[in-house]
Amino acid sequence: MTCHLLIPAAGSGKRMGADCNKLLLPLLGKPILQWTLEAAIASEAITWIGVMGQPHDYPEFQKIFNEISLLKPIRLIQGGATRQASVFNGLKALPIDCDRVLIHDGARCLVTPELFDRCDLALQEMQGFIVAVPVKDTIKVVDGLTIVDTPNRDHLWAAQTPQGFQLDVIKNAHLTALELGWEVTDDAALLEKVGLAVQIVMGEETNLKVTTPQDLAIAEFILKQRNN
Ligand code: C5P
Repeated sequence: MTCHLLIPAAGSGKRMGADCNKLLLPLLGKPILQWTLEAAIASEAITWIGVMGQPHDYPEFQKIFNEISLLKPIRLIQGGATRQASVFNGLKALPIDCDRVLIHDGARCLVTPELFDRCDLALQEMQGFIVAVPVKDTIKVVDGLTIVDTPNRDHLWAAQTPQGFQLDVIKNAHLTALELGWEVTDDAALLEKVGLAVQIVMGEETNLKVTTPQDLAIAEFILKQRNN
C-alpha cells in the first residue's frame, strides 16, 4: 500500500509578525516545518512526501531535508500565491501510482504519526474526509459587529488537517474551482461546493496551527509536556 502526503509550506510569516516564512522559525531548536516532517516520516503509513514551498525558501528547506533521516522520498514542489494554488501544484506533481492523497498544513507541526496512520486507514473507505474536533466555544455569526445567528454548537466542528481524498475527486474539484474562480481556505470546501460528501475523522485537541506568536508558545509547552 502507498500513502502520499502533500504539505503546503509556501506561506509567509505575516500574521506571525515575522519577515520570513513562519515555518522556518525555531520551535525548541528546530524549524517548525521539521517537526511536521518528522511526524510524517515516523508515520508507518506514509510512503512519499511532497512539500510545496516558495523558491526563495528552497535552500532552507533543503537544509531541513538534510537534517532528517531520508528514509522516505521527499520532493520539493513550487508553491503558488495562495494555499489553494499551492495544493493544486502539489496534486499535479504526484507520482503516477498515486490514487489517493493526504494534505497536511506544514504549520500544524504538533501532528502525531498516529494521526497520519488513522487518516490513511480512513481514506481506504472514504472519498474525502477532514480531521476535525468539536468546538468548545459558542460560535456567533456576525455582520459588522452585530450578531446575526448563534448556530447550535452540537453541529459545529473545527477543521484541522490532515484532509484526505481520492485523487480524481480532489483534482476535479480543483479544476472546477479554477474554471469558476472559487477561492477557499481548505480542500474539503471544494468538494462541498461541487456537492460531494466529506466525512469527519476525530482530530486531536493539540493539533493546533501555528499562526501567531502565542501559538508558538503554546506549541512549545505541548512539546515539552510530550517529552516528559
Ligand atoms: O497561513 P496559514 O497558516 O493559514 O496557511 C496554511 C498552510 O498553507 C501553511 O502551512 C502555509 O505554509 C501554506 N500555504 C501555502 N501556500 C500559500 C499560502 C499558505 O502552501 N501561498
